[in-house]
Amino acid sequence: MNIFFKSFFLASVVAVTSIAQAQKQSIIKPTELWPDENGNHIQAHGGGITKVGKTYYWYGEERAKGLDTNFRFVSCYSSTDLTNWKFRGDVVKMSDPDSLGAKWILERPKVFYNKKTKKYVMYMHIDNRTYKVAQVGIAVSDKPDGDFKFVKRFRPLGHESRDVGQFIDDDGTPYLVFEDRPFGFRIATLSDDYMNVEKEVCLIPAHMEGGAIVHYNGLYYSIGSALTGWRANPNKYATATSLSGPWSEFKDIAPPETNTYGGQSTMLLKVVGTKTTTVIFLADIWKPKTQWDSRYIWMPLEIGDGKLWVPRPKPWSINVKTGEWKAE
Ligand code: GAL
Repeated sequence: MNIFFKSFFLASVVAVTSIAQAQKQSIIKPTELWPDENGNHIQAHGGGITKVGKTYYWYGEERAKGLDTNFRFVSCYSSTDLTNWKFRGDVVKMSDPDSLGAKWILERPKVFYNKKTKKYVMYMHIDNRTYKVAQVGIAVSDKPDGDFKFVKRFRPLGHESRDVGQFIDDDGTPYLVFEDRPFGFRIATLSDDYMNVEKEVCLIPAHMEGGAIVHYNGLYYSIGSALTGWRANPNKYATATSLSGPWSEFKDIAPPETNTYGGQSTMLLKVVGTKTTTVIFLADIWKPKTQWDSRYIWMPLEIGDGKLWVPRPKPWSINVKTGEWKAE
């Protein structure tokens, strides 16, 4: 290498390193673009978080601009701090599983890790363009970052199922939360291998979707949104001492006139640290005409003694080791 190329090479290394450093983030900025480690806005809409060891995986609907419309995609990102996310690829790239027709739907993927089988089992909403099929789909992978192989689609316990949510209790028991339009919000256990929905635990007779649950200080909190499609509405919560209920009345989680600050619930994520436990509200701000630009609201909740409240979104940071968060 002559001296010119040597210095060019060194300068490039320095430039690349400083770009990488510049992209290291310490603050979560709800409602803003959220760049992954490559600087691209995270595409993991209607998503969920799966923690395996110290790593968090964020799965969601990949809705990047210009995707091949013959396929549906689920993305996977990983992080150890919930703030900096590395794109691990589209772990599902699926064509119409069997004659669902043009504009068929794959939404709200949620991944359960089965410690016994060591498989990653993805549940998702599968539908046709008019949302009349109302099924869950299951795909499975040996690794968190795919590829996930589609296995089957069905109506859980014979019921309609649209938005799916995921809840793992403190004892590790996994539950699927699914919206059954005629009846309400169902919570059900999975089979040992997680490949089936096994038993209903509760039907909450409330017409809600974007369902999510957290177990905090001896109380279960369930949240959901009203059925207004992509348009935001006042999301609500109820509490119960047992998953099977009885559940309290549903109450607002934010000032109702803000329509949940423009977001729709997708998950409640509990971060148990050495000093404290923080529960994070995860929501989507949908932009139906420019889906790739849809944003996220992640905010630590005010929660406890039967109350749950999402503070107005503002920049914040979290220390996943201690569980502490602070406003920035
Ligand atoms: C919402 C639902 C989204 C998507 C959308 C389509 O109510 O939560 O996942 O299905 O409707 O209109």
